[in-house]
Amino acid sequence: MAQKLWGGRFKKEMHPALKCFSYSLATDKELLAAELQVNEAYARMLAKIGILKREEAQKLVQALHQIKAQFRVCDLAAYEDKYEDIHTFIQMELEKRAGSVAKKIHTGRSRNDLVVTSTRVYLREKIKEIQGGLRELQRALVTVSGKAGELIVPGMTHLRKAQPILLAHHLLAYVEMLEEDKARLQDAAKRVNVLPLGAAALAGSALPLDQKFLQKALGFSSVATNSLVAVSDRGFLAEFLSVLSILWMHLSRLAEDFILWNSEAFGYVELDDAFATGSSLMPQKKNPDVFELVRGRAGVVFGHLQAILTVQKGLPLSYNRDLQEDKPGVFDAVKKTETALELLALTVGSVSWHKKAIARSLEEDSLFATDILEYLVQKKVAFAEAHQLVGKAVRCAAESGTRLRQLSLTEWKKFSPKFSADIYDLFDPKDSVRGKKTIGSTHPLRVKKEIATWEKALEA
Ligand code: ARG
Repeated sequence: MAQKLWGGRFKKEMHPALKCFSYSLATDKELLAAELQVNEAYARMLAKIGILKREEAQKLVQALHQIKAQFRVCDLAAYEDKYEDIHTFIQMELEKRAGSVAKKIHTGRSRNDLVVTSTRVYLREKIKEIQGGLRELQRALVTVSGKAGELIVPGMTHLRKAQPILLAHHLLAYVEMLEEDKARLQDAAKRVNVLPLGAAALAGSALPLDQKFLQKALGFSSVATNSLVAVSDRGFLAEFLSVLSILWMHLSRLAEDFILWNSEAFGYVELDDAFATGSSLMPQKKNPDVFELVRGRAGVVFGHLQAILTVQKGLPLSYNRDLQEDKPGVFDAVKKTETALELLALTVGSVSWHKKAIARSLEEDSLFATDILEYLVQKKVAFAEAHQLVGKAVRCAAESGTRLRQLSLTEWKKFSPKFSADIYDLFDPKDSVRGKKTIGSTHPLRVKKEIATWEKALEA
């Protein structure tokens, strides 16, 4: 039995080095489930248009079900040198089970339209799974936020203490970013869900293939309107990897925040032993490797985006074998994303907070400089003037090695006569956050409401 989908034109066998160079089963075996699904719909379609008899289609469908039951993706490793790609593998397994009728399954199609159809079916599912993973991570963050309650930390800008904020507010920031990522994925899914079959190799087919039937059977929202786009554009993959890159940019920032909080310099967070790692040399070590791997893998995913763009750059229409290189990066990015989301949800969900260290980090009076500024503005001092004189007070206190709250009222009054004894009420982080009035601020009541809103929105 021929082990290839082509060959009539050739007199010689392929050189083994070219086999190694071009065979793709090691990668595209990932498409196993998607392609079996596509084949089932295709067999039924061929029966509908009279190319297959009903019983023949039935036989093929049965064989496809057997293949599905027999093989997992990892089982295909054994066939990697034998078959060129996933299409060939399925074709040969079909022939073994259904006999000569299997020779009709590829009627009117090419691997050019088939591979991208299976890729789209695969990706649709993966997008849903990633959205599910995002939701789990969001839920973990919301749960941790709820438990943190009104715990206050120094909010940072330029990695220097800026103003007190609720830890929950900081964590909910990520919940929002991830929500945007989910929405971007949803939007990208629209471009994924277009049926390429019928485009054949590039020009369409002279056979009466029922594309509407395939569209419905496979749940696509439309049929590709240009066969060249169908077989040769991977814009949908570039879009998917762009969206994933933005998502990973967010994950890497989340990871970095936890890495910082876990450092001795901050000491805010204690990782659960089950989600930390040790050093082979330094016995004292307990390292935040989950977060570091996430931070590092973000770089790899960005690289995959660069690759899919560059593979297509300047590529003449229509299909070229270059396009086979579209898949490794996508599959890798999908796996990395799914596992990172799972591990982040588990790790973030199991941290505990060192409340004493957090409280100590709030003993820094310059955290309240902005509260003092706004206090003066409320007493009708012009903003710029108030800014100037609070800045001076901060500098004087720093130079004389005193805390702002230790300046006497007489000293304050030298900066502005508008200062009165209530200035000393401003050095309380709780009052600072409670003083916030704007939409989106860190006011505890607002944050509490946000938590409730997210809990509801993320309910299973
Ligand atoms: N393995 C190819 C890909 O992933 C599909 C096969 C098309 N091969 C061909 N010679 N036209 O794009």
